[in-house]
Amino acid sequence: MDNGWDRSEIRDEVVTLLLAGHETTALMLAYTVHLLGKNPVVRDQIISTTDKTDIKNPAKSLRQSTLLDRVLKESLRLYPPAYAIFRQPTEDVMLNGYEISEGTILCLSQWVTHRDHRLYDSPYEFRPNRWNSDSLTPPPTGMYFPFAAGPRRCIGERLALIEGKVVLGKILQNFTPESFAEDTLEVIPSLSTQPKDPIKIKLKQRN
Ligand code: HEM
Repeated sequence: MDNGWDRSEIRDEVVTLLLAGHETTALMLAYTVHLLGKNPVVRDQIISTTDKTDIKNPAKSLRQSTLLDRVLKESLRLYPPAYAIFRQPTEDVMLNGYEISEGTILCLSQWVTHRDHRLYDSPYEFRPNRWNSDSLTPPPTGMYFPFAAGPRRCIGERLALIEGKVVLGKILQNFTPESFAEDTLEVIPSLSTQPKDPIKIKLKQRN
C-alpha cells in the first residue's frame, strides 16, 4: 500500500472503529432505556419535554434537553460500556506517593470508581440530578471517566452523546419504555460491559 499502512493495520483500524464506535453506543442506549423504564418519573419528565419538541427540527430541540444530558451522564456512570482502561508508564513515576516502575500495567476501572461510595452519594442509585450545576453533593473532578481522559480519550464522545440524544428522543417521542429486567443488572466484563441476561423492555406505543 502506498499510504504507508499494510492490510493488517487498516483491518485493525476498522475493527477498532466498529467495536469502539458501535458496540459502546449500543450498550449506552440499552442501559439507558432500561434505567428510564425503571424510573418512570424521570422518563415522564423527558417525555413531557420531548412533546414540546419542534417537530420540524427535533435534533436541534433534543440537543437542548439538559435533562437528557444528565440522564445519559448518569447512565454512563452506573453502566459504563468501557469498564476499565489500562495504561503503561514509559518511565518510572511517583503517583500519589506510590512508586510505579516503567512498564507496570495500571488498570483504571470506571466500574469500580463510579460506584465508590466515598466518591458518590448513594452510588447505586440512578440520580440524574446529581449532575445539576447546583447539586449539593457534586461528584469529585476526575472520578468520572466513561470516555477515559488525557490524550488517548475517546475520539467519538461527542458523536456518541449526540447519537444517544437523537435516538432516545425519537424512542421517547413514540414509545413509553418499561423494563422487566431486575432493577440492578448483572453484567459481564467482556471486551465491553455486557448485560449477563437479555434486558427485557416493553415499548408501549404512545398515541
Ligand atoms: C458511549 C459510547 C462510547 C464509549 C463509552 C467510549 C469509550 C471509550 C474509551 C473509554 C476509550 C479509551 C480507551 C483506552 O484509552 O484504553 C475510547 C477510545 C476510542 N473511542 Fe470511544 N467510546 C464510545 C463511542 C465511540 C464512538 C461513537 C467512536 C467513533 C465513531 C469511538 C471511537 C474511539 C476510538 C477510535 C478510540 C481510540 C482513541 C485512541 O486510542 O486515541 N468511540 N472510547
